[in-house]
Amino acid sequence: MGQGAAVDRLMAGMTLKEKIGQLNLLPAGQGLVTGAQAPTTLSQRLDAGQVGAIFGTKSLASARAMQERALAGSRLGIPLFFAEDVIHGHRTVFPLNIALACSWDMALIEATSAHAAAEATAEGLHQVYAPMLDISRDPRWGRVAEGPGEDPLLASRIAAAATQGFQGAGLGTPERVAACLKHFVAYGAPQSGRDYDNVSMAWEDLIETYLPPFAAGIEAGAASVMVAFNAVNRLPMHANAPLVEGWLRGCQGFDGLVVSDYTGVKELVAHGLGPAPVAVARALHAGIDMDMVGEDYLNELPALATEGLAARTAGLAMSPAAVRRLIDRACRRVLTFKARLGLLDDPFRGMAGKAPARAEGRALARKAAAQSAVLLKNDGLLPLAPGSRMALIGPFAADRANMLGTWAVSGRAEDVVPLDRAIAALTGQAPTVCWGANIVDEPWLEARLNCHGTTVTRDPREESALLAEAVAAALAADVVVAAVGEAKEHAGESSSRLAVDLPAPQRRLIAALAGTGKPLLVVVFAGRPLALGEAATQADALLYAWHGGVAGPEGVADLIFGAAEPSGRLAVTLPAHPGEVPLTYACDTTGRPWPGRFGKFLTGWLDMPDDAPRFPFGFGLGYSAVRYGRPILCRHAAHADETVTLLLGIENTGNRPALETVQLYASDPVARVTRPGRKLIDFQQVALAPGEAREVRFAVTADQFRYPMAPTLETVEWVRDPGMVGLHVGPNSRDTQEVALTWLD
Ligand code: BGC
Repeated sequence: MGQGAAVDRLMAGMTLKEKIGQLNLLPAGQGLVTGAQAPTTLSQRLDAGQVGAIFGTKSLASARAMQERALAGSRLGIPLFFAEDVIHGHRTVFPLNIALACSWDMALIEATSAHAAAEATAEGLHQVYAPMLDISRDPRWGRVAEGPGEDPLLASRIAAAATQGFQGAGLGTPERVAACLKHFVAYGAPQSGRDYDNVSMAWEDLIETYLPPFAAGIEAGAASVMVAFNAVNRLPMHANAPLVEGWLRGCQGFDGLVVSDYTGVKELVAHGLGPAPVAVARALHAGIDMDMVGEDYLNELPALATEGLAARTAGLAMSPAAVRRLIDRACRRVLTFKARLGLLDDPFRGMAGKAPARAEGRALARKAAAQSAVLLKNDGLLPLAPGSRMALIGPFAADRANMLGTWAVSGRAEDVVPLDRAIAALTGQAPTVCWGANIVDEPWLEARLNCHGTTVTRDPREESALLAEAVAAALAADVVVAAVGEAKEHAGESSSRLAVDLPAPQRRLIAALAGTGKPLLVVVFAGRPLALGEAATQADALLYAWHGGVAGPEGVADLIFGAAEPSGRLAVTLPAHPGEVPLTYACDTTGRPWPGRFGKFLTGWLDMPDDAPRFPFGFGLGYSAVRYGRPILCRHAAHADETVTLLLGIENTGNRPALETVQLYASDPVARVTRPGRKLIDFQQVALAPGEAREVRFAVTADQFRYPMAPTLETVEWVRDPGMVGLHVGPNSRDTQEVALTWLD
């Protein structure tokens, strides 16, 4: 029987109660309980046929047991599907997504997603709550760690690569899972960087910056979407029919499954959208097919389906028949998703439990860690020669747990090889390790960081004693490596920060180490782009290593000793000062341009020094030197239907291999509205052997200069301005060469 026919047959035979049960999405929680103990809510629900899917099972055995229980409780034998937060790897934890984005390597991102999918399917999982596609230009927001960075083009390519990696040839492909694009939409742009807060922005910004990664994920075939907690322009996403049913399904042709976020339907009440029945009617009407955790669909839909909803309180009248039609619509989508996964044919499909080799995952994780770290500064210190006496100082010198980063729910700290051991294994020489500074020095903050785990350990001695010990260790060494940064709980969900800088005790440690005059490498392990302040000038070399996953420290060791070449490029701008957020390289031009030197009546900050170290979007150093030739256009004027080739010679003039990311930006100085001073329109990664020269070609089309004009979401018009535009090519968003092109029409 075809998938459609199987779904039709089930729909025809199901009762209203059974259909509502399919819309209920529950956490595995305490799992199943049998025997003398009181049954869990989950087991009661399964017995009553009131669960459509479960997320967060931690083993194949429990998934199997739950599937068996669900089948026994379902009159028509409808199976569950199983989901999990597989955000940057499953058992093998890869670098944070923001770190992977800094690799700019789509094959790598696809490979990490495919590996995570294979590990997930081996545990009976069918869907992952990834990729997370929230563009963020506000480092205060803790979930910047989970996302693709600040740029829509880079994020869109990541969306396609990750979706492809998770899903392979499509749903039902062995060892692959369904992707779930999240969080739809603009979750990364909350007011003041506070997690869960609402978003107000011009429709043009939503359409041009925040929606494209979702469009790219859908284009790549993503099978599901999760909506965001926030409101966009006053309408919460869990009730946002214009964006979900309108843009996502109507404009993009998405025909998959839409799930709520955790209790997101219930939260419509706190958003001020009415009592529970109204919230449920709104969410269902908006196209939210499954209700995660809150059970409001389960509780409210039976009455709504018989009584309907009066317009009195809701501004949304619904007859009982209309409610039943919406229940049918959502239930059909859930069943279609299960059919596409092959579960209607075989509920135990893929539960053979064959996981990919751990060694393969580790090797990939190590490569990913090396490619994700960004070398920001190198005054001739790196790569280090083995044999030098190293003092490795700081709270992350021998750390395991924080290396996993946020949202590593299936990772194990024991799998991390910490930096001191990674260095010893690589060089055969153990560094002198010294704690140096506590991660934070405010006890209340430490308690908050620890409320989700116990990763922030501290040394109870006075700071002066810690610093004295660190300085003594530094003075006895040839080279000093400071391992500093954020705890994993510093970034992630519900972990927004007011001031995005290195915690104060670690800043004092770096200053003390710099004071010794010993060559100093600072390695930053963090979940967000931090303003590095003085540390950027005090260090001789600076490596931004993020939270790099199970093999993060090994990747760092490879880089600092030259066993791997640094090739990471920032996927987000690093603020020069914690107060200059939100920020992006792609800001619209003003009449008094920024950035530049501060001058009276120019855009900028009075109290920011002109020489504050800036690390722009796209920036990153390697160990070799790559020379850029002059960009040449095959023609300087073209019609809109023509493709213009931009040619550029690049040459590796150093004596080490290089992986160069050549970036192409556009500007539109003669437009009908203010446009970004730079906007990434293409990039290419080119491997260059020492001494090798290559020609890079970009195909430039008029489409790349289109932008939306949208008085409302429904009246968007994509426009383009004939006349002169700028093409800026270079190794990052700042250090570019420009050529002008004229569109004749
Ligand atoms: C997060 C989602 C996650 C879900 C399920 C929510 O709190 O916002 O990203 O997928 O929980 O764990």
